[in-house]
Amino acid sequence: MKDRFERQINYMRISVTDRCNLRCFYCRGVQDFSFIPHEEILTYEEILRLVRIALKLGIDRFRLTGGEPLVRKDIENLVQEINRLEGVRDLSLTTNGLLLPDYLEKLKAAGLKRLNISLDTLQADKYKKITGFDGLEKVLFAITRALELGFDPVKINVVLLKGLNEELDDFIQLAFALPVHIRFIELMEFSPEDGYFVSGKQLREKLYHEYALETMKIAGSGPARNHYRIKGMKGSFGFILPYSDHFCGSCNRLRLSADGKLQTCLFSSETTDLKGPLRRGAREEEIISLIKEALARKPGSWADNHSQVKRNGLRSIGG
Ligand code: GTP
Ligand code: 5AD
Ligand code: SF4
Repeated sequence: MKDRFERQINYMRISVTDRCNLRCFYCRGVQDFSFIPHEEILTYEEILRLVRIALKLGIDRFRLTGGEPLVRKDIENLVQEINRLEGVRDLSLTTNGLLLPDYLEKLKAAGLKRLNISLDTLQADKYKKITGFDGLEKVLFAITRALELGFDPVKINVVLLKGLNEELDDFIQLAFALPVHIRFIELMEFSPEDGYFVSGKQLREKLYHEYALETMKIAGSGPARNHYRIKGMKGSFGFILPYSDHFCGSCNRLRLSADGKLQTCLFSSETTDLKGPLRRGAREEEIISLIKEALARKPGSWADNHSQVKRNGLRSIGG
């Protein structure tokens, strides 16, 4: 399926819950944490029905997000059911890793092959400052277990935060020690916590100058462009720079919120409710028309909606 800018839309990010077991300060949004009532959250059956419809439209890559997707009960069942559907080319999950050790084997058995783990610092005091909890050891354990169990690639998402993790060295060392793929991400200022933005482009240039970098390709459907390896590294690192090197021209995605709203751009406040029609018993063609109508209005770039970005943080739409 193509949009009006000839972009191939083949990827859906599905938020399975808006709940999270961390409180990252940059994720809070302008309203403080308030949650979608349980009965408004799509059931797994409803999500699967939408995934089947998406497959008919040529969307064959899916990512489960949250909030924190592992706080939703029996998430491995959803993973298994999606993996069983014919035509699914890629399924992954973005998690903060805290609950991961309890789930890794179940997720593996359900057919999950790769994982993206959010971790903004390798220092315990800073981890607590950023997320509100002491959890660094658990996340590091989850990463090593995921590697032992053969998840590949394991990507680490590091949101760049001024004064908190700009030095990057710890993560570069981690990619020497373990076959993990680090992505340094520019903070999208959805929250009231302004002043933490760091230009990733400058950091990227600094690394270009300091090291001889090899370019490499990592499996993925998302916005990280190249990945790089310094000689001797087991893993790699890359950058996701929504501001200083934005990737909207090759955007391939739609988002589904936990309460069944389709959002065509992360920066757009326009949503299309799919849960209502689904629960009213709408036929498949009606849902398909709604998706197509929403897609026809997908913005060309985040800049089209920039004034609307300070909303609820990324928690409710899964980044
Ligand atoms: P793969 O490449 O398939 O592994 O996934 P991904 O990088 O798309 O997914 P992930 O959930 O790990 O997201 C990484 C970062 O990219 C997060 O900070 C997201 O908020 C950000 N991101 C994902 N999709 C978009 C998008 O459409 N626009 C913008 N601006 N940021 C995005
Ligand atoms: N800017 C950039 N990335 C963000 N994430 C959450 N909030 C933001 C933000 N404001 C990241 C998380 C997670 C992914 C889903 O989105 O760290 O890795
Ligand atoms: Fe939770 Fe992720 Fe938001 Fe942090 S960034 S509060 S881990 S949803």
